[in-house]
Amino acid sequence: MAPSQTGHSIIPLSLRPFYAAIKMHFFDQIEAFRAFLAATRSAGHVGLVPTMGALHAGHLSLIQAARTDCATVVASVFVNPTQFNNPEDLAKYPRTLEQDLAMLADAGCDAVIAPSVNAMYPTPSRVNIRWNGLDDILEGQFRPGHFSGVSLVVAKLFNLVRPDIAYFGQKDFQQFKIISRLTDELMFDIQLRCVETVREPDGLAMSSRNLRLNPVQRQEAVVFFRALQQARQEILQGRKSIQDIRKLIAGNFSAARGTLLEYLELADRENLTLIDRVEAQTPAILLIAGYVGEVRLIDNLFV
Ligand code: PAJ
Repeated sequence: MAPSQTGHSIIPLSLRPFYAAIKMHFFDQIEAFRAFLAATRSAGHVGLVPTMGALHAGHLSLIQAARTDCATVVASVFVNPTQFNNPEDLAKYPRTLEQDLAMLADAGCDAVIAPSVNAMYPTPSRVNIRWNGLDDILEGQFRPGHFSGVSLVVAKLFNLVRPDIAYFGQKDFQQFKIISRLTDELMFDIQLRCVETVREPDGLAMSSRNLRLNPVQRQEAVVFFRALQQARQEILQGRKSIQDIRKLIAGNFSAARGTLLEYLELADRENLTLIDRVEAQTPAILLIAGYVGEVRLIDNLFV
């Protein structure tokens, strides 16, 4: 559906009475959205939940967290082109705006901004945020430029919304860490909250990309969570290094058809420095990424 010139008209006529009844405001134009925020800010804290849409219960848990803390809950829905290092991944990213709006309204969101690419990025866009080494491990190593794109769009959203609190998922833990650093270094006066990962009953972390898995792949995808659980158990028993554990779980991946392990790493949870073993009292995290068919999945578990 084409974005409209007015603030609200992208919502189909049939659904409008529904949104009106629960008073969720929808904006696809920046100016109208700014006017809404200006009128709302005095009510109390503004909470922001940035998303790329194709929403699921994981995203909604961020809305719920914001709902308990804030007077006004704002969600953004924007598939950010600059964070996709693979054009096919961008093209295939699921877009389900109508359903997203219904879910957000139901979850108690007050306002949604879904801007166009042109509204977010002038052409040519000249600003680039570089991390000078901080983003060359884990996701950064396999998705060059990804965190530059994430940082740029989050900085834009922070400036646009000027939230008191912004909510991110533990599922993308390295993203959370990078955004924390961005917030500190660029001196945004914003508190950040990291919300626990929501999982399917079999343990698979909820992800918009799961929509692209066929039924067989969907079953195989649980290999990532199982590997994390097994790795955590080994680490807690304290005998094996992460290298040994990697060898151990390689077998799980060869047994699960169509899956490919990209990395399994152990890191210090504070600064994401990669480590080999867990020292007593060091909060650590296991991080995993790989493919099921053509779909790239990531997950992590605190140790
Ligand atoms: P997206 O993948 O849509 O995720 C939006 C937010 O939901 C992120 O903070 C993500 O960590 C969180 N999330 C995703 N799956 C979750 C789950 N299973 N449980 C809990 N939280 C979950 O992350 C992005 O979009 C983008 O990079 C963005 C920050 C919006 C910048 O474009």
